[in-house]
Amino acid sequence: MFELYLDTADLGQISRFAACLPVHGITTNPSILAGSGIGLAELLPKVAEILGDKAVIHVQVVGEDADAMVREALHLQELPYRIVVKVPVTEIGLIAIKRMKTRNIPVLATAIYSVQQGFLAALCGADYLAPYVNRIDAMGANGTGVVADLQSLLDRHRLVGKLLPASFKNTQQVLEVLKAGVGAITLPPGIAAELFAHPAVQPAVNRFTQDWQAVFGRKLSFES
Ligand code: G3P
Repeated sequence: MFELYLDTADLGQISRFAACLPVHGITTNPSILAGSGIGLAELLPKVAEILGDKAVIHVQVVGEDADAMVREALHLQELPYRIVVKVPVTEIGLIAIKRMKTRNIPVLATAIYSVQQGFLAALCGADYLAPYVNRIDAMGANGTGVVADLQSLLDRHRLVGKLLPASFKNTQQVLEVLKAGVGAITLPPGIAAELFAHPAVQPAVNRFTQDWQAVFGRKLSFES
């Protein structure tokens, strides 16, 4: 099943999109949480209230060695929420991912900038892989190409990891990763809104309203 996430801790935006989209959960990182000004103790119950108790919340470890990351992950798993533990794919992060997977902790391998790096995280058993599409583009490389190549390697080797690309600055990047067959995506609120905000839509809707009201006034369809 395709999983749609919001890449935000902004409760107003989470409520807004929960009303109009099938939001599976949210992804966070230390910068997002620091920017939101609220900690997990406050955020988690509020997100569960908005999205329901089946919502999946991705939370990144901030420990700086593998032991600390695994301890942090174990604490996160004790909380009464569906938490996926995000681990940056560094050498230390890969050690932590391997250890977490021996304990069946759900893991998202994050900060992926290359196909090779993502492939290794998948081999270590990561459940989700988050390539940073726009950040890769901004470095002069091809973010959506990284996603497509990684998806094809996952398919070829039948690896369980699901691609959950992050870091988008335009809707074309979103379209390209969807076409590559990813199983999940996380969108900043602004990009989520742009996906349904084609400039031709509102004028078309306005024209329908005008035509209708010219003949039927304020009647509803079943009253005509
Ligand atoms: O968690 C990673 C993702 O949020 C990065 O997005 O927009 O900071 O490149 P961005």
